[in-house]
Amino acid sequence: MSPVSLTRYLIEKQHADGRIKADLRLLIEVVARACKAISVAIGKGALGNVLGSADEENVQGEVQKKLDVIANEILLDANEWGGHLAALASEEMEHPHPIPHRYPKGEYLLLFDPLDGSSNIDVNISVGTIFSVLRCPDGVTEPDESAFLQPGSRQVAAGYAVYGPSTLLVLTVGDGVAVFTLDRERGSFMLTADNLRIPEDTREFAINASNQRWWQPPVQRYIGELLAGREGPRGVDFNMRWVASMVADVHRILSRGGIFMYPRDNKDPAKPGRLRLMYEANPMAMIVEQAGGAASTGLERILDVQPTGLHQRIPVILGSRNEVERVAGYHAAG
Ligand code: F6P
Ligand code: MN
Repeated sequence: MSPVSLTRYLIEKQHADGRIKADLRLLIEVVARACKAISVAIGKGALGNVLGSADEENVQGEVQKKLDVIANEILLDANEWGGHLAALASEEMEHPHPIPHRYPKGEYLLLFDPLDGSSNIDVNISVGTIFSVLRCPDGVTEPDESAFLQPGSRQVAAGYAVYGPSTLLVLTVGDGVAVFTLDRERGSFMLTADNLRIPEDTREFAINASNQRWWQPPVQRYIGELLAGREGPRGVDFNMRWVASMVADVHRILSRGGIFMYPRDNKDPAKPGRLRLMYEANPMAMIVEQAGGAASTGLERILDVQPTGLHQRIPVILGSRNEVERVAGYHAAG
């Protein structure tokens, strides 16, 4: 069979099983095109004068990198005029971005983390873009923050791009997970894996161990057991990996299994975790569940959390189902 481009994959999803509407197809293609442009900007590195700090802080109080700002602008410019969106929201913007009145409006809400893991950009390690698509609530014509505050189970699509040795786009529209690799000569994303499945068991974990002294008892117990290895209660050795780009860590887990944890800790009582619910945890949780894995805060399924703020933080434990369920069990045991 001839290679399947993202365009063909989406058109077949639209026509064959009616899974997506034409506007959602357009939305995903526009996001993919923006990711191609971001990939080009990142690929220039120091030659493109795109590395380093933008000398500004975002809404999280984090110093923005030049590429954070560039990636955010690429996604905004690409998405605001096509008529497929009712509004956008980004990690880099405090409030939702309305569609300018001169453009038509559509029925979807798009949320994104334009450049995830951006502290890695200056040292040439993989970074990515994460996105989530919701429906604008019925009857809402000028969506504000409250229109976005829907549980992750209502996402109609989610995905991420990884800018690594190759640029990949990983996508779900709610019927499994597909991976597309950017063919730089053709300029197209080509389907390279479909119906991904995360192994239910794993011997690999990902956590920032420098936070160990602030972890809560269930996480201390779980990681302690993994570190005890063959001599401990698990009776096997575990390996650890931590890229510090969520996209790269999650992609490894999607590819070969593993458990990723950025749990709640006692470091800063104002922050119930590091990662953001709406444009990091929710899209990743949908992808992981669609690949047969699990995603939990420790206390509940991430996709069931009722959001209270666009930029709220949440504990994240995701990946191989049996390990995630074990950690949730340790939380339930107190
Ligand atoms: O977006 C937040 C993020 O950069 C994730 O991509 C990554 O998993 C995490 O933070 C890294 O955190 P830390 O700096 O604590 O290792
Ligand atoms: Mn991020």
